[in-house]
Amino acid sequence: MRFNTLASAASLAALTAAAPNERTFAVLRFNGDGFMTEGRLDPIVNPGELSAHHHGIMGGSNFGKTVNKEDLLDSKCTTAKIANDKSNYWVPTLWFQSPTNGTLYKVPLWYMNVYYFFEPTDDKVVAFPPGLKMLVGDPATRDAPKFGGGTNLIKNGKPIQPIQFTCPRKDNNAPLYPANSNGKMAGMADPNNKGAGAGFPMVECDGFASPLRQDIHFPSCYNPEAGLDDYKNNMAWPTEENWKQNCPPGHVHVPHIFYEVYWNTPLFVNEWSHDGTSQPFVFSNGDATGYSSHGDFLAGWDVKTLQTIIDTCNAGDIGMDKCPNIPGGLNTDNDCHITVDDDDAMANSRVMTSGMQKLPGNNKITGWGKGGVDGGSVSPPADESPVGPVAPSAPSAASVPIKAAVAKEQPNAAPEAPKTTEAPKAPASPAEGANGDMKTVWDVVTVTDYTTEFGPEATAPAKREVHDHMARHINRRGGRRS
Ligand SMILES: *[C@@H]1O[C@H](CO)[C@@H](O)[C@H](O)[C@H]1NC(C)=O
Repeated sequence: MRFNTLASAASLAALTAAAPNERTFAVLRFNGDGFMTEGRLDPIVNPGELSAHHHGIMGGSNFGKTVNKEDLLDSKCTTAKIANDKSNYWVPTLWFQSPTNGTLYKVPLWYMNVYYFFEPTDDKVVAFPPGLKMLVGDPATRDAPKFGGGTNLIKNGKPIQPIQFTCPRKDNNAPLYPANSNGKMAGMADPNNKGAGAGFPMVECDGFASPLRQDIHFPSCYNPEAGLDDYKNNMAWPTEENWKQNCPPGHVHVPHIFYEVYWNTPLFVNEWSHDGTSQPFVFSNGDATGYSSHGDFLAGWDVKTLQTIIDTCNAGDIGMDKCPNIPGGLNTDNDCHITVDDDDAMANSRVMTSGMQKLPGNNKITGWGKGGVDGGSVSPPADESPVGPVAPSAPSAASVPIKAAVAKEQPNAAPEAPKTTEAPKAPASPAEGANGDMKTVWDVVTVTDYTTEFGPEATAPAKREVHDHMARHINRRGGRRS
């Protein structure tokens, strides 16, 4: 184990940069309600046109069909807590498909974090050039990663694997996937972390205030010869020597960013059977496996601001917004939203009021036996016996219609729900965390990517309380407070 999960977030002294030979980091949080916008746009992969699938987008308001160079810097507003960050961060949206009737419901965003890691290096870490376009992950794949369920972010002769799901549970030992899964009909566990793996988990993620989490790491070496727009070739992964991560010759070392996207999956807890061999979630591109999880980044930072943060800020989990002397200060706007002009206003609404029969763009649902032989880039191999049923068929235990669950009002219920999009506070020390119920969240957070140990989790409150808490949260986010 190389990095201690809690040490770097532990004290106020850590707010300023540590020795240059240590990893420093700061988590960027967002203001307001849900994504900045949603829709079928992707100015990196499909500039000037509609994208094949639906995305949820955070950050600067100058997002659109076409975004180039310094366009984002002119954004009127941003959802980032740092005023001078007008970057866009986006992912495919997540949908719940009813196992009983096939109806699709968009899973609301719970909240999103973007970690900015400044790794120990012999290079100089510099700010992203405005307009830099990055894409991590393969939207077309339905195949399990070659590296298996773990992560690998270093060029070391093994396949890079920058994408996972984390699934905090009340029961730390509940396996996310069937034992010995080979990835063809179910996901694969991270050998170093029982709470994470490749592919959608097949259990409920019922950790306190921490439902299903999509995890995406980005490479940190930019090749200026490839240029800002060439997202297929412009980034490389670092190599590592003597605990330092260095970029290949000719590359510029930029921050290592990491998306954590928490989805409000507990909203659907009563709508599926939890049989351990199937699960109901699909990405907007029709992927029923989760292997095609991907993230896009389009840089819109004021360069001086980000460079100051790189050079002086080590706020860790406390949040980048707690760093002193950030040029341009903090963003106080809690309502930065734009409307995307595609063909599907209903899919783009932050709180859907009814289900849909098709995904936006009519993407066919494929993977893990769904979709049949012509159902996409993957069909189940004939020579493998599936570890699970071909399609979810068990009757749902559902009794409450989803619509009613979304609309359920509990205005007088105690205890207080966290402020929208505010992540729970990190414990000030491991000792404090030991009796604090928020510890679950932070123990499975991010910084475990280089650890080989899975931190102890505190006992979470009763399941029912967690789900009521989720329901209240979504009510607040939907503006349905009475
Ligand atoms: C489809 O199933 C969901 C539960 O999974 C239910 O809430 C919804 O009302 C059903 N829709 C129809 C049209 O039966």
